Amino acid sequence: MEDLLKQIKDYKDEIAAYAANGEKSAEEFRIKWLGTKGLVKNLMIEMKNVPAEKKKEFGQILNEFKQFTEAKYEELKSSTSNLKPQASNLDLTLPGNSIPVGTRHPISLMANRIISIFQRLGFAVAEGPEIEDDWHNFTALNLPEHHPARDMQDTFYVQHLATGGTDWLLRTHTSNIQIREMQKGKLPIRIICPGRVYRNETVSARSHCFFHQVEGLYIDENVSFADLKQTLYFFAKEMYGQDVKIRFRPSYFPFTEPSAEMDISCMLCKGAGCNVCKKTGWLEILGSGMVHPNVLSNCGIDPNKYTGFAFGMGIERPALLKYGINDIRLFSENDVRFLKQFTSAV
Ligand code: PHE
Repeated sequence: MEDLLKQIKDYKDEIAAYAANGEKSAEEFRIKWLGTKGLVKNLMIEMKNVPAEKKKEFGQILNEFKQFTEAKYEELKSSTSNLKPQASNLDLTLPGNSIPVGTRHPISLMANRIISIFQRLGFAVAEGPEIEDDWHNFTALNLPEHHPARDMQDTFYVQHLATGGTDWLLRTHTSNIQIREMQKGKLPIRIICPGRVYRNETVSARSHCFFHQVEGLYIDENVSFADLKQTLYFFAKEMYGQDVKIRFRPSYFPFTEPSAEMDISCMLCKGAGCNVCKKTGWLEILGSGMVHPNVLSNCGIDPNKYTGFAFGMGIERPALLKYGINDIRLFSENDVRFLKQFTSAV
């Protein structure tokens, strides 16, 4: 009897030391202690050797030991079941972990929309450098040094670290791309040039020191002002709706002659006059014109053989109008709450 009590105490110590270690170990524990040939069963068999007057006392101790062992088994089992979902605690109706999906920037949406309209007319996308030399941004575009029209675009000049030269700048328009394409000498040319441009302007809700443009260029034999108008009519109707009204106003750009600005009827007040169109009923959306012969010859193209038209528009303003945004600075603040609202340009 004394031996059995000592044995039970040792067993208890051994059992107490068990730690959860996966499903397999809980099952091994059950077989070793609670199985039909397990150690608890063995102790029960010993019962018959216990003197009659001690049977009751030993029976109680044994019972208590059995409960202790069973409790430990339950503990091991439940701690392992936490590791792996069981049919009973797996709720298939719960939503899965959502994967965050990004959204396109409203400026990209707008640019892509403009680009896709011109692509349908056979224009190809061309790109060029944002840090440009003075010649490609100004001189080649019929804006020689000291030309007063250079002041139309306040320019950021940059100093070249190696040479100290200051005839480098941040491009003020994407027309530099058009110059680079013309220099390649492969005609005809039918390109659109999207990109970021820089102007030294005070940052406010209405203007920024950088913004985005899409410019276009078409050069071939016999390209006329009628081609320019028809192309831009098509664009405006695709972009702003078939019932939009369109007008051309004479204008001046050094690189085009003649030049015209294109207005569309204000889509907010339908031409009646509101704050956005400054009570005029019209919104100015792009500049355009026939490429100046000087520009063609600056790029090695014979102006007696070829003619062409060019146009350029900002992307920010149509995007502000389209989405009803009242501050241009929001486009460059990287506020995800703002950015994730835009899923489509249509
Ligand atoms: N380059 C002009 C600008 O940045 C836009 C333009 C392009 C105008 C082509 C006429 C022809 O304002």
